[in-house]
Amino acid sequence: MITTLQQAQASRYSTKVFEAGAQVDPDKIDALIDTLCLAPTSINSQPWHLYVISNDEEKARLAEAAWDNNKPKFADGSHLFLFCAKTEFGEAEVRAIEQMVAQVRGGEVDEARVAMMTNYVNAMSPAERQEWMKRQVYLVFGQFLLSCALLDLDSCPVEGFLPEQMDPLLDLQAKGLTSVVAGVVGQRSETDFNTLDKAAKVRFARPQMVTEIR
Ligand SMILES: Cc1cc2nc3c(=O)[nH]c(=O)nc-3n(C[C@H](O)[C@H](O)[C@H](O)COP(=O)(O)O)c2cc1C
Repeated sequence: MITTLQQAQASRYSTKVFEAGAQVDPDKIDALIDTLCLAPTSINSQPWHLYVISNDEEKARLAEAAWDNNKPKFADGSHLFLFCAKTEFGEAEVRAIEQMVAQVRGGEVDEARVAMMTNYVNAMSPAERQEWMKRQVYLVFGQFLLSCALLDLDSCPVEGFLPEQMDPLLDLQAKGLTSVVAGVVGQRSETDFNTLDKAAKVRFARPQMVTEIR
């Protein structure tokens, strides 16, 4: 398991050129989606929503909101994963989660916990709360990247798009959502210039990144 994990992380890289028209194994996409749905978030808030787009016209349409260097990735990848954050989070959302807890585990809704969690989120300003929700999205996103590697799926993380252009394309505001970050999954092209044989992984050495206090 340890070797598998390290190998997966060492062998993944950001695919810059995808093979247009190449489809990835739908079973792997299903496994990936199911895995992401189990991701942990602060106070189990789960303030995120994921769009998984495999329709060619739709990918091309959404590519319009991407930076120019990322447009071909959106269009040529097999699946575009668009990670969104909720735009509101208050008592109603806390209550919905606690109702789910009561349903799954049995018993009544824990009103004290509803009050405590509502106080926790209400203590943040609206801007801080939005930022907090985006951080939860990034937790899921990190798991997406590692999961792709473990499933041997080529992927590219993409922050390079304009949420203010993306959101209207999917009518996200009306759905109480805003786009945060994207991931393209597909098959690397032979012309990809970023494969590890052409562009070795560059990371700081462990002592520069980690202080171990034993
Ligand atoms: C949050 C995030 C956003 C990124 N956005 C883009 C992007 O918009 N376009 C792109 O080509 N690469 C993007 N990358 C790829 C990074 O440049 C890449 O992960 C980094 O250089 C390390 O290389 P590696 O992923 O190949 O190991 C992004 C990576 C992360 C983690």
